[in-house]
Parts: sequence; structure tokens; C-alpha cells
Amino acid sequence: MHPHATRRRARPRRLLATLLALAAAACLGLAPGGPSPDAAPAPAARADTGTGTGPGAGPGHTVSYDRYSLLIDGERTLLQGAEFHYFRLPSPDTWRDVLEKYKAAGFNTVSLYFHWGYHSPKRGVYDFTGVRDVDRLLDVVEDVGLYAVVRPGPYINAETSGGGLPAWLKNVEGRARSSDAGYTAAYREWLTEINRIIVPHQLTRGGPVVLYNVENEYAQNTDAQYMQDLQDLAHAQGVDVPITHNQCCQASWTPTWAEGLGAVDIPGLDDYPQSFECQDADTVWGPWSDGITRRLKDDAPVYAAEYQGGAIDLNNAGYEACRQLTGPAYMKYFYKSNLIKSGATLFSYYMGFGGTNWGYLAQPNDVYTSYDYGAMITEDRQLTGKYDEFKLQSHFLRAASGHLTETDAAAPAEVPAPDNPALETASRVNPRTGARFTLLRHADPPATTDDSAVLDYGDGRRLPVRVDGRDAKVLLSDYPFGGQRLALSSSELMTHTRTGGRDVALLYGRAGEAGRTVLEYGSRPKAEVLAGDADVSYARGRGELTLDYVHEGLTRVRITGGGRPPLLLLLGTDATAAEFWQSADGVLVRGTDLLRDARVRGRTARLRADTGEPGRVEVFTDARRMTVNGAPVRARRTASGSLTAFLPGPRPVRLPELSEPARWRQAAGAPEVAPRFDDSGWKDADSTLHADDHGFHHGSLWYRGRFTATGDETELKLNAITGRRGIYQVWADGRYLGSAQGGVQADSDPPVNEDPGPGTFTLPDAAPGEEVVVSVLVQNMGHNDDWIADDTRFKQPRGLVRAELPGSGADISWKIQGARGGEDLADRKRGPLNTGGLYGERHGWHLPRPPASGDWRRAGPDVAAGTVSWYRTSFRPGLPRGQDTALALRFGEPPAGHRLLMYLNGWNVGQYGAGVGPQRDFTLPAGLLRADGRNTLALAVVAEDDSVVRLPSLVVKGNHRTG
Ligand code: GAL
Repeated sequence: MHPHATRRRARPRRLLATLLALAAAACLGLAPGGPSPDAAPAPAARADTGTGTGPGAGPGHTVSYDRYSLLIDGERTLLQGAEFHYFRLPSPDTWRDVLEKYKAAGFNTVSLYFHWGYHSPKRGVYDFTGVRDVDRLLDVVEDVGLYAVVRPGPYINAETSGGGLPAWLKNVEGRARSSDAGYTAAYREWLTEINRIIVPHQLTRGGPVVLYNVENEYAQNTDAQYMQDLQDLAHAQGVDVPITHNQCCQASWTPTWAEGLGAVDIPGLDDYPQSFECQDADTVWGPWSDGITRRLKDDAPVYAAEYQGGAIDLNNAGYEACRQLTGPAYMKYFYKSNLIKSGATLFSYYMGFGGTNWGYLAQPNDVYTSYDYGAMITEDRQLTGKYDEFKLQSHFLRAASGHLTETDAAAPAEVPAPDNPALETASRVNPRTGARFTLLRHADPPATTDDSAVLDYGDGRRLPVRVDGRDAKVLLSDYPFGGQRLALSSSELMTHTRTGGRDVALLYGRAGEAGRTVLEYGSRPKAEVLAGDADVSYARGRGELTLDYVHEGLTRVRITGGGRPPLLLLLGTDATAAEFWQSADGVLVRGTDLLRDARVRGRTARLRADTGEPGRVEVFTDARRMTVNGAPVRARRTASGSLTAFLPGPRPVRLPELSEPARWRQAAGAPEVAPRFDDSGWKDADSTLHADDHGFHHGSLWYRGRFTATGDETELKLNAITGRRGIYQVWADGRYLGSAQGGVQADSDPPVNEDPGPGTFTLPDAAPGEEVVVSVLVQNMGHNDDWIADDTRFKQPRGLVRAELPGSGADISWKIQGARGGEDLADRKRGPLNTGGLYGERHGWHLPRPPASGDWRRAGPDVAAGTVSWYRTSFRPGLPRGQDTALALRFGEPPAGHRLLMYLNGWNVGQYGAGVGPQRDFTLPAGLLRADGRNTLALAVVAEDDSVVRLPSLVVKGNHRTG
């Protein structure tokens, strides 16, 4: 169980009140100052793909901060970011794809955990090549034009094995996450390695890194000296951007690392208001928090370091339920409340893309192979409805960041008041520009009613508004942009841009709701409704042009004269607004499934875009020509002053059928159960049965025990710890005795290592003096995390922990076998978490090359209890060039009798089957998958009971023509 799940749910109301009080305290404004508004400093892409003054522009940059915001080169900057785990996407080429998708959603930042255990199979051994090349990752971040928050731990949690601590650390004396000497020496190794890579990528040296996060939710069993040491080391190694920490979760939890020994520059706060109860997605509404980010430190900006962007699937509801739990309604209500109530100007959402727990990356207690997380981008790299909502909100933050990065909470008298108590408002005002941002939502957070009101602005201005169901809006008033001034609007702003001497603004509202927008002019302007319907009126006295309309499709109004530059006003719904994109250069585009980039050079608009089906694209520019993905397309000008073209969709994909047993070969894979199996090369396990002590840290473990029968043996009592979802199986003299669930992380305090009780297995009769050989296959599902920093859970052993022959005086002598080479990796490319110690894994049966051993025959569907069977096949997907086609392996309902491991070209891409989790579709990561060539698939089927193996088929998860 994830520790949050029990702890946060139990939080008393009193603490909620404290949180609210703290948030209110955070609303005390301070003196103004700083650069001009209406500039949205976004990092520019690197010189080879763009221009600008963000990362890549050269050294000499500064990152500083004050109470309001981060300042990059002295310029107020709002960070809108999301978390990304490179280790859950074992394909560096697709890092760029996902990060471009972040950028296209309007994000300007990515938050990156670095995973110690992923890089270090053995003390003193570190690998930063191939899928572990994080130097390349930071280059890609810079190329794409994002800022980076780096989070090298050493502890990261993240539902990954050991919370990111390497398994060899279990054998190191000294409490992890403390200043104990043994642990200190160990983590200094890691930080020295990773800081060496990070430091040159800091913004101060021309790179993308703007913040450095130490530790993770370090709130229990804390050691301030350790927090200080981490920072001293970072500074000594050249870290000179502000240091941050992500605190969890309750007001009562101290320290917050805002002051005293171990304090960081910008303390951040994590918040997961929706919990992880995805199975109750229909009803859950903010049980863990009211969605307010507290101010932890007076002279630092408010940083929502990990704000819930999805959920782990604690109860096997499936990630679509988690996506619903954390869907657009939640995003609107909680994210907008955060923005206005706390004045936060740094945000990072956990996760933007979750990825895959390939190999043994998963921490066993909370997650299974997929770490999709119900995020805005699926594990298959596809965009969802949540992505659309992020697009609306992130583009707004970007467009308005010049105003939003310095706001004070408005005094109650200054807040537009609704005349209906069912609704409530709160406002923030930029003290220099006067721009006002008003949050409108239900007064009772979970209310689902449809309520309307008139907002009274206190100066004679009134605005009809409506909140239908769980929703929230940020309404602008007195908002200057480009050459215009928005007096007020009941529509929300997505973005605005300036092109060819005119302004274009895109506002939106819920479909079918009425909207009103009022603009200020010196004299009556000319307003032409080009598409859709809007009533236009002008009040000469106030100089106000009022548009009344219903949000429906896309209404276009061209406004000229009135003493201002021309304005094209686009009034859409959530859905039509979400069809828009705005490139880093500010080019506004409608259409395509993904706009990776758009620039106007001379008279040509150059787009890089993905299309999932044929359709129109429209570019709001005065350019005359268009290229898409480098090729010219036929484009024409429109009455709205835009350029439009028709783009083709992708070619269809035809996949080979894999589910026929006839195309697979099969071999038996558990020779270890035979009494005469040669285990002379195995390690002696008499001194300790614990696998980690022998350097076998991940995946399946084999034990072989021998005893000389006294004749009194009737049963064998065993206890193995596997982590949740693990099993172990037992044979005697080649006969299968059965299986049992392995021990898990206990929730008791202190945790019990030997839970549940031992498995008892009936032994076959043996005559006195006869040698009996026992074989045991134990699944190690991964290592517990160390969330409470008590060391005990993390250091819980794996493998057999007890073996007894009740009633017999015989001693069992044990040998152990695990992944080939143990800590001295046999396969450095795929790394320490890819394989365990199954016979086929030790002999390379999972690899693309033909196996040099094993008796391979035509495959059949039946597997017998107490067997390990390997299946292999190869296929050519023949995916069309110039397209990004996402493939997955689809199995049936998880079977009762067996579980299996699957390998694509030697990479362990998942575990499926009895008790492993609800997952049926397994992502085949592009990059590991050869789109055009030959691929090898191998399955290792571990059968507890007689059962039928249903072989998987290939399915398309997404197909796009792409640049
Ligand atoms: C946070 C933690 C993350 C992750 C998340 C839940 O508390 O910092 O690493 O575990 O919870 O997915």
C-alpha cells in the first residue's frame, strides 16, 4: 500500500483548517517591482532549431527569485511543468517526442527524477550510456526548448524499486537517507557522478536546468545535517541554480525545509488532492486536500512541486479510471484554485507522461508494469482529453505570465461579488498593470448544481456568469494585451498573439453557455462578425464594446478602428479552443493532432505537425505559403486573414497475426527441478538465504536444497519474501509440491518481515539415508520504497528467509542462483533491472539471437502445473515510413493458472497473468521495436496450475503521419 493512501485519508479536518489559514497568510501582498508584463518568457529552442534568449543562448545567465516568482536573467518567469521519467521510456529517440508534446501543450518546463539504481548495478559502477544517457536527455530538453528541474534524489520514491535507491545499498551499513557514514559514502558516489552531468547543463552555463531538487518528501525520521550535506556537496560540485525540495503533505509535517539547518532556497510542496482511489472516480472529490498550495517561505515564490496530474492504480481499476479521477473537471477546479488562491508561479504536474515499469523497475506494492498514471499523455504516447485541458490552461498561463508572475490577493472589497451564495469568487491583481484574475467556482466544493449569478465589480460594471457542475473559471478584467484592453469577460482566455500588425485573441467557454466580452476603445470601432453569432453594442460614455454570444463552434469577430490596432477575436468552446496550438514563436494554428512547431519565415509558414486523419489546418498569419514537415502544401488565404490547407492522414497499418501457436516455438525452461541438475557453479547459501547478500537483486531466484532424509520428514515449511504480487513454487526430487504467495511489505509498525505465514508443503516419502533435492523458484517483484526513511522497509530481504523440516533433525544445505553475473552485469546495455535468474534468462533465450540451448519444438497452448515454458517467435511489423505508429501486445483476461514475462528483442517489457495486475495491453516502446525490421518476441510462462496459454496479438495504439 502506498503510504499516502492510509496516512492522508486519515487527516483530521483540523489540519485542513490549518492549511487554509496558512494559505490565507500567503495572500499578503508585498511591494511591486520588476520588468514589463505581457512578455511571456518561454525558453527558446536551441540555435539549430530556433532562436531566443532561453537555454542554449550561451553562458552568463542568472536564475534568481523573490517572493513572487523565479527571475531568469532578471525577467519574471512562470514555470509550468510536468514530471517525466526517462527510465520509464527506454528509447532516447522518443524522449524528444514526449518532450515536444509537453512543449506543444504549452508547458515550458520538465521535471526530471534521476534514478540512482537504474544507473548503478554495483557499488562503484555507473552507466550513463544508451537508454541511460542522461547527458543526451538534457541536450534533448534544451533542443526542444524547455527548462528543467532536476531531481537526483538520492531518494526519489516514484513507485520504483527501492524508491530509486540501488539494491546493493541494502548491504551497506548505516540508515539510508541520513547522515550515517556508510550511507553518506555511498550517496556521495552517486551525486558525484550525476552532478558531473547536471552541472554543465545549468542555465547559468547555457543549459536548461533552472532548479535543483534535493531529496524527496523528506518529512519523517529526518536528519537536517543530511539535508545540509546534500546541498553543500551540490554547491561544491558547481550547482549554482536555486535549490528546492518537494515537501509532503500535511501542515503539521515538519520540517518544511524553509528555515534552519538543511533549509533550501525555494521550498516546494506536493499535493495529491484526489487520492489514488481510481475505482471511485465517479464520486471522489478532493478527499486529501482542498487544492491550495501553502506559502512555505516569505521571500520565495510558491512552488507546487508535485501537483497531482494522474494517479497510481492502487486498486487495479485500470488507468482509464485514474484518468477520469484526475480528468478535466478536477483539473479545472483544483489547478485554477491553486493559481488564484495561492499565487503560485511554479507548477509541476506529476505525471505528464508516466511510461512503463519495464523489467523490474516497479516498486512492488503499488504498481504493475504500466505506469501510465492516467496522465495527459498515455503510455503509448497518445494525447488525451486531459492533454486538451492542459493545453487550455498552459497556453493561458503562458500568454498571461507577464501579469501572473506578480500578483497580490485582492482585498475582499476588491473581489467581484456574485449575487448567488452558491458561487464564490477570489481575485489576484497585478499591482503594476492592474490586470485582475478572478476565480469563480462553487462555494461548496463538491457541488454539482448548475448555478448562475451576476458579478458586481463594485464600479457599476456587472457580468452574468454561470457554473454548471464541477467547474471553475479564471475570469479576466482590466487586462491589457498587445494593443488591446479587455475590460472583462465571462469567457476564459486561452491565448493571444500579435501577427502582421494585428492582435488575435482566443477565448472560450463551456458549450451552450452564454458569454460576454467587453473591450475598451477610445471611439466606436467597427466590429464584423465573420463567422458564428454575436450581438455587438457600443457604450460611448465608457468606451466599451460589448459582445454577447453563446459558446458554440468558433465565432470570429474582426474589430478595426477605435484607436487600437486591428483585433481578430475568436470565441470558441472548450473543444474548439483545444483544436488550437501556439508555437514557441507565437504562431497560432488550428487543426492537426499535434503541432510540434510553427514558424513564419518571409512569406512562408513552416509547420511540423502530426495528423491522425485527413483534415484542415489553419494558420493565423499573413504568410502566403505553407510547408508541412518540410514539404510544400497547397494553401489559400481566408476571410479571417489566415492561411488554410488540407492535409492527408496516415496510411493504414496491417499487422501480422501472432496469436496462432503454429508460429511460435516452445521449450521447457525449468531443468533446475531435476534432482541431477548440475548446480556446482551456483553460490553457497548456507550462511544466508537472502538473495541481496549474494548480489542477486532483481527477478527470479532459484534455490536448490539438499538433505539426507531421516525418514521423519513429512512436510517442508518455507517462507519467502517477494513483495506484493509475488509467488514462490516448490519441487522435491522433480515433483511439484505447489506454490504460495510471497511475503510483502507489512503495514504494521515496525514492519514484520515475515508476513504472511510460511507456506507448508507436503513432502513425498523418503527412506532414511536417501538424499532429497528441493528446488524453489522465488519471484522477486522488486524492493520496497523508503518513504518514511526508516530503512526497515527498504532493507527488507528478498528470497527465502526461512526453511524448516518440522520433526526432522536433518539440515538442508542450500545453493542459490539469480541473474547471470549478479552485480557484474552480463548485459550492460539492458542493465540491472532487465532479467532475473530463470534458466532461459541465464542462457539468453530472451535475446534476439537464436538460442544455443534448449529443446525447441512447435508450440502448443497447454502448460502443466509446476513448469516454466518459453515461447519464441519473430515478426516484421512493416510499419509505414514517415509515420509514428504505436504498437502494443494484447493478451486476454489475465489467466488463473500462470503468469508470464515478455521480452521484445531481449528487453523485458512486462509481466502479465494470475495476480500480477489487471493489465492486458503491453506497450512495445518504439525504438525497442524495429518498425521496419525483424523483431523477436519471447515469453517465459511460469505455471502454478495446469492452464492454457493464449498467445498475444499486436494492436495499434496510435497512428500518425509525422515530421
Ligand atoms: C509523491 C512522491 C512521488 C510519487 C507520488 C505518487 O508523494 O514524491 O515520487 O511517489 O507521490 O505517485
